[in-house]
Amino acid sequence: MDKKFARITLDQDFAVSRVDDRVYGSFIEHLGRAVYGGIWQPEHPSADEEGFRKDVLELVRELNVPIVRYPGGNFVSNFYWEDSVGPRELRPRRLEAAWRSTEPNWVGVNEFAAWAKKANAQVMMAVNLGTRGIEAACNLLEYCNHPSGTKWSDLRVAHGVKDPHNIKVWCLGNEMDGPWQTGHKTPEEYARLANETAKAMKQIDPSLELVFCGSSNMHMPTFPQWEATVLEEAYDVADFISLHTYYGNYTNDTGDFLSMTLEMDQFIQTVAATCDFVKAKRRGKKDIRLSFDEWNVWFHANAADDDTMKNRPWGIAPHLLEDHYDFEDALVVGLMLITLLKHADRVKMACLAQLVNVIAPIMTEENGPAWRQTIFYPFLHASRYGRGVAMNTALRTSKHDTAHFTDVPDVDCVAVWNDEQEEITVFAVNRDLKEDIVLETDLRGFEGYRFAEHIVLEHNDFFAVNSAEAQPVQPKTATDRDEQDGGLLQSRLAPASWNVIRLKK
Ligand code: AHR
Repeated sequence: MDKKFARITLDQDFAVSRVDDRVYGSFIEHLGRAVYGGIWQPEHPSADEEGFRKDVLELVRELNVPIVRYPGGNFVSNFYWEDSVGPRELRPRRLEAAWRSTEPNWVGVNEFAAWAKKANAQVMMAVNLGTRGIEAACNLLEYCNHPSGTKWSDLRVAHGVKDPHNIKVWCLGNEMDGPWQTGHKTPEEYARLANETAKAMKQIDPSLELVFCGSSNMHMPTFPQWEATVLEEAYDVADFISLHTYYGNYTNDTGDFLSMTLEMDQFIQTVAATCDFVKAKRRGKKDIRLSFDEWNVWFHANAADDDTMKNRPWGIAPHLLEDHYDFEDALVVGLMLITLLKHADRVKMACLAQLVNVIAPIMTEENGPAWRQTIFYPFLHASRYGRGVAMNTALRTSKHDTAHFTDVPDVDCVAVWNDEQEEITVFAVNRDLKEDIVLETDLRGFEGYRFAEHIVLEHNDFFAVNSAEAQPVQPKTATDRDEQDGGLLQSRLAPASWNVIRLKK
């Protein structure tokens, strides 16, 4: 067998684009224990005066998420926002059809905005284009953002929230191409409704950034015609088109699982090409940006969730989508982050779905602590060290085939240059399950940069999980992997490992 290798070149001339910090966004949906028992649990010992768990807030701040999507997800397509504001004791309970739960409305628009502030994050608000439309969206916008002196803004003030929330990013519905969505639409129906809603919202505030629904994944039968139809209708008012993708190791084939980001890469390229096709057709000047506002691994709890929703419906904050992530999931999350960063010129916003308890990096015990899942760590590293300019690394690496993919690069990586702090970080995954691979980095365009640190996430059991009691999957600093000789750095990447290689001037 040929020797495995990986070589990259770092050069200041190879910039892809400055990374928009908002690619490190996340998502909180009224689903399962994300809100109740997740971010908000007034009876928990760590709760603050507003009922928010301080232990959770601390972990969210550690991840440094600049923007959080809310309130769904599928939930939003049946959301009556007026029920979620005003005196808590007067708020109605509602049947929440998407997740077959009861929504008590204990936390709503104002509480979430207050929580986001504490988490140092902006809110990315989604409007209901499933059962509702232009009117409800504009009323919510007026309620949230208008200072005062009108029906809905004065109602907010009467609810004790004097200052407007100034929410700038709005999603026009959620996954409207999916038959599972309440109010599912054809591309033409959605394009018309979303365009008219966007026009009305921008008439109120032209500075809003609006995200149109793209396809729920690249296997949807209407992909990519959906994107073309929507953008041809709405090019003038559209700022972003959304992408969603979840992966799972359904066939118990780790090699294949680690290759799924090849598909994510193709998805991004196809959506970008579709945006450019519409731009050309419309003789347009602006690029439509991509908002990858749902991405993650999601499959572990599917059977349990189906059972709960079928046999024990209408609970408040039931245990739903509580995937316990293992070590290999963390590698896939790392590969997904690498893929997003490689496309930093087009992907200007992204949300790890989700943030707390529901397919989440942060889990809580009802009567115990909040703790970090395995996937917490690659996200933390990317959010902490991946701010700056994404660099094309001109990667050359050996390749292999898996059950569903051919020519899978043995190593995948991206580099981010923090030009302000004069640091470069290379994020790399060795996909080979058995062999070390030496990553050779030619520091040609970065004279004076020296190796500083090599953080690794590795484990001999692909299925190792963390829990409240034990955290076997944790990053460590490797001291024996890197050798620099002038402008050449050699870094040993352990089999099936996530690597964060940091250089400083
Ligand atoms: O994130 C969980 C669900 O996945 C969201 O509600 C929906 O938008 C997607 O299908």
